[in-house]
Amino acid sequence: MLKFNNIHKKFGEKEVLKGINLEIKEGEFVAIIGASGCGKTTLIRTVNGFVIPDAGEVYLDNEKINYSDSNKLRKMRKKVGMVYQLFNLVERTNSLQNVLNGTLGSCEGFENLLSILGIFKKEKIKKALEYLDYVGLKDSIYDRADKRSGGQKQRVAIARALMQHPSLLLADEPIANLDPTTSHKILSLLKKINEETKLTTVVVIHHIDFVKSYFKRIVAMKNGVIVYDGNYDGLTEEKLHFIYSEHLDEIYSDKIRAEQCITA
Ligand SMILES: Nc1ncnc2c1ncn2[C@@H]1O[C@H](COP(=O)(O)OP(=O)(O)OP(=O)(O)O)[C@@H](O)[C@H]1O
Ligand SMILES: [Mg+2]
Repeated sequence: MLKFNNIHKKFGEKEVLKGINLEIKEGEFVAIIGASGCGKTTLIRTVNGFVIPDAGEVYLDNEKINYSDSNKLRKMRKKVGMVYQLFNLVERTNSLQNVLNGTLGSCEGFENLLSILGIFKKEKIKKALEYLDYVGLKDSIYDRADKRSGGQKQRVAIARALMQHPSLLLADEPIANLDPTTSHKILSLLKKINEETKLTTVVVIHHIDFVKSYFKRIVAMKNGVIVYDGNYDGLTEEKLHFIYSEHLDEIYSDKIRAEQCITA
């Protein structure tokens, strides 16, 4: 359902993605790990066109993402729900309104104009309330986002993403700003959504312990290449050391080491 085919990306002279090949199947729940700066965010941003690859193709639902056609790109973006580290909510607006904002991309014509003014159809409001309930936020839905805890904000952000009816959910470090207990709750929620709705979900995450508890498939990146793709059991101490250490860089090129490291 999501396929990266030989993706390359440079920022200035820095080659950030060096030929990424990765396929994610319908309904998978996948973690992407790797040291800071290895290219995780850049990779997932190629899916919604916030980063345009220099070479290679991204396919979503068997459709090649066309970065030069803004109409097609907009349609593609509607299919991709995003969840971020800093929640990206409208802070001065209440939870219900934030969730309804998830439909902004799908409203057309007069409805679009009204939605910009914050006026939504009854059935959309009903749906938003259902999603808020589903993510565990029945109460205080009229409280401003900036009055809510980090965990509650992330629940609102997840409900907003669901409101889009996405075929793919991309979460970029969704627990980076949360305490361990709240992190567990948010990952449990994402996992529950994946299991109950079969929503294909890709989570960029740093915490190895959480990765172990929640993900069957883990993709590790290092300096713009994929160096591991497999389950947690295959992720030995040695491989983790390799993924997160930098000092071996002088000895081998990334690609040679990547070939040595890939297992599953
Ligand atoms: N728009 C940009 N312009 C220039 N350089 C960029 C841009 N976006 C990312 N980079 C650089 O590309 C490299 C990879 O960045 P990226 O954000 O993809 O890393 P990451 O793996 O997500 O790291 P982190 O775990 O810290 O979020 C970094 O060196 C970063 O500085
Ligand atoms: Mg990042």
